[in-house]
Amino acid sequence: MIDTHAHLTDERYDGDREEVVKRAKETGVKKIICILVEFDERSMQIFNRLLEHDFIFGAVGIHPHDAKDYEKHKDIFLQLLDLPKIVALGETGLDYHYLNSPAQTQKAVFEKQLQIASERNLPVIIHSREALDDAFSIISNSGIKKAVMHCFSGLEEEAKEYLNLGFYISFAGPVTFKNAKKPKEVIKIIPDDRLLLETDCPYLAPQVFRGERNEPSYIKYIYEEAANLKNISVDKLAGIVSENVFKLFGT
Ligand code: NI
Repeated sequence: MIDTHAHLTDERYDGDREEVVKRAKETGVKKIICILVEFDERSMQIFNRLLEHDFIFGAVGIHPHDAKDYEKHKDIFLQLLDLPKIVALGETGLDYHYLNSPAQTQKAVFEKQLQIASERNLPVIIHSREALDDAFSIISNSGIKKAVMHCFSGLEEEAKEYLNLGFYISFAGPVTFKNAKKPKEVIKIIPDDRLLLETDCPYLAPQVFRGERNEPSYIKYIYEEAANLKNISVDKLAGIVSENVFKLFGT
């Protein structure tokens, strides 16, 4: 099992971060992609320490919430992208639910990052919330080919548009929620060779721990539910996702 999206620098892990990592390993998590979207000294130090674990890889991006601070973080962000264990740019994208940064700024900063990813030939981890049309138009104009729509919560038609671009679609805890009809349906139409899974921890804990702090070891509940919905074994699914991770992130 691989957790393709974990925010392990979050302060909610300050008391037991190494135990969380150990628990993931003991549960059978083979790789974790740790997402860095904070550029304060503390977060960057934790991130670097996390990357010392063989099985932890990194992604760095300016989150749409912080688009307004792009110029402030740009230099350090570009330096971090050069770290050897960085396998993707992200998360980046558009979020019109929380307009922490104005939509115009979000769009401009998203476009810039897609440009950087394409220059560096890095895959992109995309966050899109309540910004369907703008996100799709920026993405399709960018010519980006290697990307994942992270924590996908859209409808079938939206998923198909991204599949047509060659993208991967990643599902998180909501696929396990009792009342979540949409992701349970949409995951069924995602071809095996385009599917990824993630916790997006510390957010969105799966149904069993809903509302609590999430962590990479809980990815097993997401694999179990996804395997069930796709009518295959967890082992088979783990093999499929590992192959996809290798194709997209090269690890
Ligand atoms: Ni995230």
